[in-house]
Amino acid sequence: MAKHGVIIGQGYSLPNKIVNNSDLEKLVDTSDQWIRERTGIKRRRLQEREQPSYEMGVEAAQYALKSANMDPLDIDLIIVSTESPDYLTPSMACIIQDKVNAVNAAAFDLNAACSGFVYGMTVADQFIQTELYKNILIIACEGLSKVVDWKDRNTCILFGDGAGAIVLSASDKPGIINYDLGADGTKHKAITIPLTHFDETELFRRKNKREQVIYMQGREVFKFAVNAMTNSVKKLLSEKDIKIEEIDWIIPHQANMRIIDSSIKKLNFPKDKVIITLDEYGNTSSASIPIALAEAVDKGKIKKGQKIVLVGFGGGLTWASTVLEWV
Ligand code: ACO
Repeated sequence: MAKHGVIIGQGYSLPNKIVNNSDLEKLVDTSDQWIRERTGIKRRRLQEREQPSYEMGVEAAQYALKSANMDPLDIDLIIVSTESPDYLTPSMACIIQDKVNAVNAAAFDLNAACSGFVYGMTVADQFIQTELYKNILIIACEGLSKVVDWKDRNTCILFGDGAGAIVLSASDKPGIINYDLGADGTKHKAITIPLTHFDETELFRRKNKREQVIYMQGREVFKFAVNAMTNSVKKLLSEKDIKIEEIDWIIPHQANMRIIDSSIKKLNFPKDKVIITLDEYGNTSSASIPIALAEAVDKGKIKKGQKIVLVGFGGGLTWASTVLEWV
């Protein structure tokens, strides 16, 4: 019988420190009102500078393993989605493998920016379908506060830190029903965090030698995001003859409330069936979808038999969506 990936456990981790919009008024020329109106964000959680980001990934992974009632020794593979790793090598996946004692697992990181968690789920599902692996831990872990320019009001107001995780296991029934992945590399300069190569454009965009920080063309990304999310979800559902009315929840990447509002309007989907955490946690990049998913499960919103769409977009530029049935 064909194998499918099903989510059997989920978890998340957020730093304790809460930073309100009014706190950012002390750093840059902005206001609580501007941030709320233009983005929907009220506050975000940030790590202390000296804390490694992987700690959040470890906590989220342990939470997911506990909720799946799974022995870490039974995990075959760990995939970590991150665009803000503590090290280029070792991968965050190897560090988390050690800390959660999943010694039998292969481990690697994947970077598709904010779309990375859904990319990771899709990769994991291929291993399950081919029956190479049975139990896969997928973690999205982002310490964006360390790559944000805290003097740039165009970006520093948007981001937060956090991690989310799931355990995906082999089952005879789906689980994951379909996915749609994509990228538009012609727009690769729209969001950048240089690491070792600083060309003239990148240096020009950043002031006072703050080279390794995020630069983003906000308006360009905004337009891309609305179209990418809408088109991806339409394709995802039409390929399996699923009507939008059959979907119980959409969990979008939490970047900007106006992006979410425009996308669901184009999809003709009701707002009360969209899971939102943006107001409290800001944009945690690829961690935003699994954090929102795990929190919604904890709150009892997501129930057995419901159909859920996860949809993200981000640097690359990339997009990714998946539709699944909750088991
Ligand atoms: N406070 C006050 N004013 C501000 C701020 C701020 N924090 N930031 C920008 N402004 C000003 C601008 O300077 C501009 O002023 P001007 O007209 O005098 O030049 C004005 O506000 C309007 O600026 P816009 O950039 O047009 O503002 P917009 O409404 O587009 O909002 C935002 C900006 C929030 C960044 C929006 O474009 C956005 O959310 N874009 C998408 C970002 C995103 O989704 N990124 C996801 C991927 S991130 C990743 O992968 C890590």
